[in-house]
Formats: sequence, C-alpha cells, structure tokens
Amino acid sequence: MKHNFDEIINRTGTNSIKYDFAIERGKPEDTLPLWVADMDFQTAPSVTEALMKAVQHGIFGYSESKSGYFNTLYEWFKDHFDWRVEPEWLVKTPGVVYAIATVVRALTQEGDAVLIQRPVYYPFSEAIIANNRKLVNNALIYENGAYHIDFEDFEDKILKHKVKLFILCSPHNPVGRVWTREELNRIGTLCIKHHVIVISDEIHADFTYQGHKHTIFGSISDDFLNNSIICTAPSKTFNLAGLQVSNIFIADKGIRSKIRDEIRRSGYSQLNIMGLIACQAAYAGGGLWLEELKRYLEDNLGFVRAFITKHLPKVKLVEPQGTYLIWLDFGALNLTEDELDDLIVKKAKLWLDHGTMFGNEGRGFQRVNIACPRSILEKAFHQLAVAVNDE
Ligand SMILES: Cc1ncc(COP(=O)(O)O)c(C=O)c1O
Repeated sequence: MKHNFDEIINRTGTNSIKYDFAIERGKPEDTLPLWVADMDFQTAPSVTEALMKAVQHGIFGYSESKSGYFNTLYEWFKDHFDWRVEPEWLVKTPGVVYAIATVVRALTQEGDAVLIQRPVYYPFSEAIIANNRKLVNNALIYENGAYHIDFEDFEDKILKHKVKLFILCSPHNPVGRVWTREELNRIGTLCIKHHVIVISDEIHADFTYQGHKHTIFGSISDDFLNNSIICTAPSKTFNLAGLQVSNIFIADKGIRSKIRDEIRRSGYSQLNIMGLIACQAAYAGGGLWLEELKRYLEDNLGFVRAFITKHLPKVKLVEPQGTYLIWLDFGALNLTEDELDDLIVKKAKLWLDHGTMFGNEGRGFQRVNIACPRSILEKAFHQLAVAVNDE
C-alpha cells in the first residue's frame, strides 16, 4: 500500500467533535471515541495538495465552481456507478443534512407525513420533527442477524398517513445494508404508485464491501430519477465532513425549482471555497487512495469479525455490506439500556453511538466506527472484551 492507514495521527486539540468534546457531550474525558462518522485518517493527498495551494494563495473571496468541477463529478458517477449526471441537475449545499431539511420544507407542508426506516441516521427524524412534519416509521425487520424491508408495512403506512416524502438511506446507516436493485425497484415503484417523492441519501455510496454493489436510486429508471432527490457528497468518502460540501442531483425541473427557492429563502448562496476545491481534487485525484482505504477497512472488518467470534461470543456483529460503521447486537447480555450504557462508557471506556439514538428499534445495539488505525480498533475491542466478559 502507498498510503499508511496504520499511522496514528493525534486529533486532540484540533476542535474535533470526536476527540475534543467528551465532557461537553456528557462522556468521561478518557473514553476512546469510535462514534461520529468521520475517519482518523488523513484525506487523499490530491485534496491536501489542492488545499495547500489555495491557502498559499491567501485570498478567500466569494467563489463558485466552473465546468471542471461538474466534469469531475460526471466522471466519478459514470466510472463508479454507471450513472450519467447532467449539469442542470446539480444543486450544491453545505451538507446532506442541510439538503434533507431544506427538501422537507420545500416539498411538504406543516403536518404532512414523511416516512423513514428506523433504526436510521438520527438527523432524518430531526429534519422532520423540527420542521413540524409528521414522522412515520416503516421499521426495518431484524431477522436471523440481518435486516430487510417490510414492504407491506411500507405501503400501508404510505396509505394510512398520506405520506408525501420518503427519506431513503442507501447504503443504510447504521445497519450497513447495501440495498439490492430489486429492493430499490420495489421501493421506487410503490413511491411512484402513491405519489411519494424520494430523498435518497447516498452519502455512503462509495463504501461497499466485496460482493456488494451500490445502485444509485435515480439510475434505475427515468421515472425514479424524476421522482427523486439524490444526495451525494465527498465528505464520508474522503473524510471532508468539516468542509461542508455536498452535491445534490435533482433531475425534475419543478422539484428542483422549489428546492432552489427554499435555499434562497434561507439566505444561502455559494459553497465555501475550500469545500469546492477539496471536492474537485478528491474526485479527480483520490481514486487510488480510496481503493487502498477500502482494502484497509475490509481488513478492519475482518479483524472485528474474528475478534468477536473468539472473544465476544455473546455479542453479534450485524454483517455490514457497506459503510464504515458497524452495528453490534448486545441483546444476549440481557441488560437494561442504562446497564448497557454503563458497560460501554464506564467499564469499557468507549464512546460509541448508543443504539436508541437511531430509534427504539436500536435498543440493545451500539454503532461502532471502524475507520481508524487497526491498533486503535484492537485497543477498543480489547477494552470491550474485558468489560463484557467481566459481566
Ligand atoms: C446517512 C448520512 N447522511 C448524512 C450524513 C451527514 O451529512 P453532512 O455532514 O453532509 O450533513 C451522514 C453522516 O454520518 C450520514 O451517515
């Protein structure tokens, strides 16, 4: 490997929310953080080089992207997902969560029902509730250690609540599913049948494990494309979350214009200059780095799988198909939520994402971010094993 993902880079004292805010967020100072979804790796060298050049230039005035920016996006989605995007579809926003909240406001009225599939990335719920929309849940089914969609309930909920909008998480955070083309087809067909617009959050699209292929929702058919908002970003893939850049593709002119109006109403215009530069440099020059990173993550997952089998037989790994987040089932320990929290935080001294953050369906689970040097992961799982086996 050209890139050394084993290197431990000290992140304390960098204003990192993962490393510098334990006390503020109610955790003991000495917990090892494997929670929020950013990585403990430096980004691709092409990004750092481009940013250094911009820093040295020293002028950070208002900026916009030129055609080169779109062209790198075009090439990326064509090469990686066989999806050909068009320039007018692109709406840039300072993050996917901002985009989702904006779309909720633009396409629904107060009191309208918005559907999600819990356990799911918690800002989906916040975007619905904070905007006074009605949250409707089509809970995923957990069976034999794996998750799937309850399609019957999906349609029932749409009809019962007159759902207007569905927020799809694809690949799914936290359960790690990479939805198959067939599953997406069923979802998309039901949504068209019942006039439900789909926000497809595909921020984790670049992280699939061997044997799994991500399908962009809008690439399935023109009907799906014209009924959806496809949210993408380089932020998970290249570890750029702090630069706040995301690329939202909206093919339907009417939907796009409502969303653009809502963005205007919020007073937002251009992206941060550093975000624009980083995004273009990442997609243009970060491909090899990403290939190596994915191999490293695959090995991290292999380590976790083997460790759990050997040392944590009561903890179940929900086998991820994508994302660098893993979902651990502690149900067999029969602990209350407070006892599980104590075990993780006080005994194992770990800062993970507690399952119930993702909805009640997450009871008894913990989400672990494995995008860190192997030695950190080994330390974390060693601490976990000592705590669990002492129960
Ligand atoms: C599914 C999903 N969507 C969105 C985000 C965050 O997006 P952004 O930082 O662009 O708002 C995350 C971060 O973990 C995520 O997992």
